[in-house]
Amino acid sequence: MVNDRDIDHAAGVLRAGGLVAFPTETVYGLGADASNPLAVRKLFEAKGRPATHPVIVHLADGVQIANWAREIPASAQRLAKKFWPGPLTLVLRRASNVSNLVTGGQETVAVRVPSNPVAQQLLARFGGGVAAPSANRHGRVSATTAEHVRREFGTAVDCVLDGGEAQVGIESAIVDLSGISPALLRPGSITAAEIEAVLGVSLAAPAGDAPRAPGTLAAHYAPQTPLMLMEGDLVLELAASLLRQGKRVAVLAFSAQRPVLQGLDWIAAPHDAAGYAHGLYASLRRLDELGCDAILVERPPQTPAWAAINDRLARAAKGSSVPDEP
Ligand code: TXA
Ligand code: MG
Repeated sequence: MVNDRDIDHAAGVLRAGGLVAFPTETVYGLGADASNPLAVRKLFEAKGRPATHPVIVHLADGVQIANWAREIPASAQRLAKKFWPGPLTLVLRRASNVSNLVTGGQETVAVRVPSNPVAQQLLARFGGGVAAPSANRHGRVSATTAEHVRREFGTAVDCVLDGGEAQVGIESAIVDLSGISPALLRPGSITAAEIEAVLGVSLAAPAGDAPRAPGTLAAHYAPQTPLMLMEGDLVLELAASLLRQGKRVAVLAFSAQRPVLQGLDWIAAPHDAAGYAHGLYASLRRLDELGCDAILVERPPQTPAWAAINDRLARAAKGSSVPDEP
């Protein structure tokens, strides 16, 4: 997989202002030297991301946040101590030297210390902050393997570190600590309750004037095929009706008893939230690549353990509707 020489090479690419895709425990990131505005600009171009959307700065350890943020509250130290390295991003007031490209022109900066060993080695070797959005084109499904990244970016990325499948499978939880009360900007595998237990206060929903987080835009994480989210019995009903119209249908559902019908593709999803999250984006990519007329997804349980998954599915479904009759 990845050896010392690969890490050296990748760190060199970052130093030279290039782009390095690397695994994190959540999803693959597309990294650039966060202190090099030209490199960060290249990153935005490769991703097709609007310049006003900020990126997360990845660091080898929590000590480094002092280089990127100021007026760091005690709550940040407590969360860092409990969850770093790991799938949690903190939004803090930015230090004055942080590039506007990284912050999207805002007064805050997002920082995270990933736990994936390849990410850890790369960050330690590089030494500085690595600005890294998820390694997918803007608005699309995040990448959880090196192969996804290669297929999506081709030669636009200078180096891809292959660390196998991302463990968690969905993006980090983002907590905004820059305002009066902490707010959850994006749910993740670390639940709101776990974060609240450390903070000792409830997390607010993002305020109207909260910093922009495009992951929180309505349509995001979306396959190209229209995706619809519904209860299990409706999945079968709608699939049958679409098949009768001669459409091809892809399904992500909990039942392993896949109906054998012409034109129907079926992925049976794991029943536990961690397993489901781990495979979610790979499943969506696979179903999308079939080029069906619709992807029907059985709605997971509406419980806190599934909150981040339900959030991503709702965004993936946004704007899609039942395909028209021929
Ligand atoms: O798990 C993850 O967080 C992955 C891996 C690669 O670390 N990264 C990721 O990056 O999901 P991205 O760019 O796809 O999503 C980061 C989210 C975006 O919604 C962005 O707007 C938000 O973080 N964000 C970044 N800086 C921010 C800031 N200063 N204030 C508010 N939101 C911010
Ligand atoms: Mg993203």
